[in-house]
Parts: sequence; structure tokens; C-alpha cells
Amino acid sequence: MPTETAYGRPAPSHNSELTHVGPGTPAGELLRRYWQPVGMAGDATTTPRRISILGEDLILFRTRKGVPGLVHPNCAHRGASLYYGKVEDDGIRCCYHGWLFGADGSCLDQPCEPEGGRHRDRIRQPWYPLHEWAGLIFAYMGPPDRMPVFPRFSIFEDLAEGEELYPDDRSIGAGGPTIVDFNWLQHWENVVDPFHVPVLHGSFSGVQLASEMGVLPEVEFELTAHGVRSVQDRRLDDGRTYRRRTEVALPNLRIVPNPLLDVFGPADSIGWVVPLDDTAFRVYTVFRTRNPEAIAKIRTRFEGRPWADLDEAEHQRMPGDYEAQKSQGDITDHAAEHLATTDRGIVMLRRFLKRQIDAVAAGQDPVGVAFTEEEALIRLDAAAFMIG
Ligand code: FES
Ligand SMILES: [Fe+2]
Repeated sequence: MPTETAYGRPAPSHNSELTHVGPGTPAGELLRRYWQPVGMAGDATTTPRRISILGEDLILFRTRKGVPGLVHPNCAHRGASLYYGKVEDDGIRCCYHGWLFGADGSCLDQPCEPEGGRHRDRIRQPWYPLHEWAGLIFAYMGPPDRMPVFPRFSIFEDLAEGEELYPDDRSIGAGGPTIVDFNWLQHWENVVDPFHVPVLHGSFSGVQLASEMGVLPEVEFELTAHGVRSVQDRRLDDGRTYRRRTEVALPNLRIVPNPLLDVFGPADSIGWVVPLDDTAFRVYTVFRTRNPEAIAKIRTRFEGRPWADLDEAEHQRMPGDYEAQKSQGDITDHAAEHLATTDRGIVMLRRFLKRQIDAVAAGQDPVGVAFTEEEALIRLDAAAFMIG
């Protein structure tokens, strides 16, 4: 008699507390306590743009005077979408009856009402505050009285002569399409999973990164003030040790040193793994560099070719991060997992996330939100070294 067959296995079930991001969900409320990138500076124009962030559909625009705005789509009057609105000097005007809303949602004109709307100051289009930094637009979508100051990041302090910060919105590091169609946590957890590197990237699909990355690392996982870090030592044939520190930090940051073997020192980029909804995310990355053209070339290669050029048979033969993580499910079936010793980082990360979710639910502030400039520095120590 065959035993333990697939017959009768339980239906998939996932940890919704850690994965769901909509308004009022536990993780969604945690993520809303931080500034989140919602687009490139150039995405906000005088043509209204539909975006989804944390399960909310919103309209991004930029007034003719240059102020970016992020508003709920449905007009506060009777619900026509501001996607069809026209952007003016001071705001966006609804197509239906012409109400005009500023970037902060205030109602500036009601042209069909007497005197342009005697009580228009009582109307507010639902909106979110925005902050532009490093070529990205960040939104604060949390409770207004808990809005933190915009953070600084230690690895971006003291830029050298000629260095600048550059944005990227193509989900660098996710190894697939720009809009990645599965739950954000699968990707975030992958950052503290160094053991997949020698397998998936080092041998299984050919060499996708530097060949030294194919050495099975000795790994320590550590809790940090903001999340979890792994310290990976790879003993190379020539007697030297290649050490990498990789970290994730709240709210959804990935800090991964450059995987090219000749780039040493502190990590030069921060990625935000931004959930668009429960089953899609996009990674926005900020780099410090003198050479922004090099950013465009940071893509996983499959026998020398970019992911988008491969057909289905090639994807099957040469899977990368996208294939591995997408195939875990739109949201991974947590109940069916068998976590092993190499998953210590993932267990630490889930527990850390849960503690911060609980803190927010209990009315506390999560780690890394600051209300004064002095406290707004996020210390990161992801880096790569050659020892010996
Ligand atoms: S629905 Fe927008 S002005 Fe009437
Ligand atoms: Fe990977």
C-alpha cells in the first residue's frame, strides 16, 4: 500500500497577518506607519495616473505649478473618477461637474454652485501627503497624527565627490518583470535566504552571478534594530574569504551589497519592496553612484540574456528568483512549509515582523519611525569584503 500520498492534503492556507496589506490589515497598518515610494518623480505629471499601493487604488498627478498630489480616485462630490480629471495650476478638476481639488485634497472651486461653492471649504477629497527624495515620490498613508519625519540612511550620508543618488523602479533583484505578481513577503524573505544563492544562482541554472557566489556560505543570522541581517562567509579556493552582510529593515527595505565580486565596502543601494496589493509588488531602488548608466545593466542574466527575452521552455530550464518565488504561490502556502536549519533568518524575520505588527496594534510606534530630525537616521551595515 502506498503511504503519505498527495491524496487528502489540506487546502493551501497562508499567514494573512504577515502578508495582507490593505487598509486595516495588521501588516498593512504597520507598513502605513512609514513613508513608502509610490512612483518616480516623472510619474507625477499633468496627466492623472492610476496607481495601486498597499491595496488602495489612487490617482497620482502634478499640478501645473509642480506640486505632486495623490488622491482617492472617486470625486468627493458624486464619485466620478479623477482619472478623467484635468490638471490645472493648483489642482485637479473633476470631469463631471468641475469641482477642483488641490494636492492636499482641499476643494478650491465648485463652478456649478452659487459663488463657486459657499461651503466648499467643508469638502476634502481623500488624499495622502507626499515627499520627493532621490527622484522618487514617497507617500505617507498612515494615521496623520503619527506621520514620521522622512528618514536619512547611514549608507547615503557623506556622498563622495561626483556621487549622487539615483532612483530605479524596475524591481531590481526580483529577477523577473517590473510588476512582480506575487506577495511581497516572499521576495523580502528571499533577502535573508543566502542558501538559495549557491543553488539557484550558482549551479542549478548555470552561473547567474559571480562564480564565487556559488560557494556554499557559512552564515550567521542576527537581529538588528530594524530587522534581520545575515553575515555570509565564502571560503574561496585561493584562501581568501568573501564576506557579505545582507539585511532587511522595516518597513520593507532590502539592503544587498553589489553581487559583483570586485565591489567592496558598504552597500550602495536600498530597495523598497512595495506591495501594490496582496499579490503584487514592485521594488523601488535608490543607488549612490557616479555612474548611473551602470544601474541599467544590473539585471540577472540567463546564459547572458535578460529574463524578458526567454521563452517558457528556457524559463523552465533556467529558473531564477522570479520562477522560484512566483511558483511558491501568489501567497505561499505557509501551512505546508517545512522550515529547516537554513531558514533561521526567515523565522527571525517573521517573528520580528509579528512583534512590530503587535506593537502597532497595541498603539505603539514601530521601530524606525522618528518624529525629530535627530532621531531620523537609519543605520545600515550591509557590506561586502574580501578578507585575507
Ligand atoms: S462627481 Fe466630481 S464634480 Fe461631480
Ligand atoms: Fe536570489
